[in-house]
Amino acid sequence: MKNFYITTPIYYVNAKPHLGHAYTTIVADSLSRFHKTLGDNTMFLTGTDEHGDKIVKAAEKQGVSPKEFVDGISGLFQQLWPHLGIENDAFVRTTDEDHKARVQRFLQQVYDAGDIYFGEFGGHYCYGCERFYTEKELENGLCPQHLTKPEFISEKNYFFRMSKYLPWLREYIESHPDFIRPERYRNEVLSMLESGALEDLCISRPKSRLTWGIELPFDKDYVCYVWFDALLNYISALGWPDGEKYKTFWPGEHLVAKDILKPHAVFWPTMLKAAGLPMYQHLNVHGYWLVRDTKMSKSLGNVVEPLEMRQKYGLDAFRYFLLREMHFGSDASFSEEGMVTRINADLANDLGNLFSRVLSMTAKYFESKVPQPGEFSEDDKAIVELCATAMTNYIQLFGNTQFAQGLDSLWDLVRALNKYVDSQAPWTLFKQGDTTRLGTVMYVLLSAMRKVALCLWAVMPDASRTLLEQLGQQPGEGPVTTSLEAEAGNFDGLQPGTEVAASSNLFPRIDVKALQQEAP
Ligand code: MSP
Repeated sequence: MKNFYITTPIYYVNAKPHLGHAYTTIVADSLSRFHKTLGDNTMFLTGTDEHGDKIVKAAEKQGVSPKEFVDGISGLFQQLWPHLGIENDAFVRTTDEDHKARVQRFLQQVYDAGDIYFGEFGGHYCYGCERFYTEKELENGLCPQHLTKPEFISEKNYFFRMSKYLPWLREYIESHPDFIRPERYRNEVLSMLESGALEDLCISRPKSRLTWGIELPFDKDYVCYVWFDALLNYISALGWPDGEKYKTFWPGEHLVAKDILKPHAVFWPTMLKAAGLPMYQHLNVHGYWLVRDTKMSKSLGNVVEPLEMRQKYGLDAFRYFLLREMHFGSDASFSEEGMVTRINADLANDLGNLFSRVLSMTAKYFESKVPQPGEFSEDDKAIVELCATAMTNYIQLFGNTQFAQGLDSLWDLVRALNKYVDSQAPWTLFKQGDTTRLGTVMYVLLSAMRKVALCLWAVMPDASRTLLEQLGQQPGEGPVTTSLEAEAGNFDGLQPGTEVAASSNLFPRIDVKALQQEAP
């Protein structure tokens, strides 16, 4: 059995969860479910990042203590996930005592090895990013992320000898082409490394300026820089250094958006290297969800509430849209019109229609029992072949974070099945009394539909289960299969004689006009 470990960024608790956070977490959930359908032993971690100036400022604004504040928002994240079908195995908070102790242990280890030193430092500090910028990194004197003027701060601090590991990192990325993927982000990191702008990393904040953090084990007057603390969640939650989960699951897969490429692609690997730990397997980087061409952000007031979308369109349709619409790595636009178009085309017209017509014909022609197939014609064999190819491509692409392409490949099959219904015209075979041929056609359809439903569990867990139940399967608790690869290699699995549902109406068409009328 293979082990598969997937993580999301741990989200800041300075704002409520929105579609951007939901997207990454739904992708992680889908990947975790996908690996379960391959029979892998999986571990899925998410959590919240709770230290740093930003949090203190947000708490002050609300007139509560930082602890009260972080408990509240972290709770919102934890409560939201089950409503989005997310089944994470663990939830880490950087204010957990256990996490803090492990961060201190890591700091001590790197300090003892001589890779942390004390020095004077002056730099341009951006409160939004919670980090110092060098002169070279600023754009017209402004933070390139927030376009605000950073504050010049000069103080004594502790530094991680990151620069010592940069030549190694460059070589590692060059010799591991998919360590950071898709490629454009790998190239971005390589040019960052070539630019010479990277220096040692300031990893402390004096307590005189900030107390809301993890105390350095070797100097009580300082707390740990929030990113150094936060990145360690990926191993602290596994019980590094001697926890069973750490031994089983590390190294794992990380999932982030492009906003936090640098800490994950530069700080984190050099930290791991300095501590002598194995490198993560891949950094999987996605783009932004945009609303009318701008990044969704609380300050712009254009955030999309995931729960509202779930309520309006259903959880499965929402999850499907997110995975199908964004080409992993590129930005994508979110609009309800786009979502309705996608749901109506792919789910109502293609998938829903296929299930609805095939099940009602099975009811009419075979009293809702899967018929015994006869010999396969060339047309039938073409479907069997397409089913194998579509599933194999789906498995390969999905596992490679190409979710849109993977789903599209599966839809090649769904669309071909609808065409096959039209070309085989079961109603004519029925009229002609050709029961053997009719039985074969219906069997081919039902069997292929079962395969589609199995693949969909990763993305649409509830719909997949319902469709399988409609096909007379009893998926029970947990993954609907643990051998998707074997399922791609055969066309069996559906027993003739199985009783199936008489109808299916899982994805009704959304009436755009009715939706517009509802809007205030
Ligand atoms: N706390 C840090 C991460 C530390 S990980 C060791 C952080 N938190 S965050 O709350 O700002 O989350 C950023 C992440 O949220 C992005 O990398 C992405 O996963 C998700 N997204 C937030 N807004 C997004 C979009 N508009 N579009 C896509 N994903 C977005 O950074």
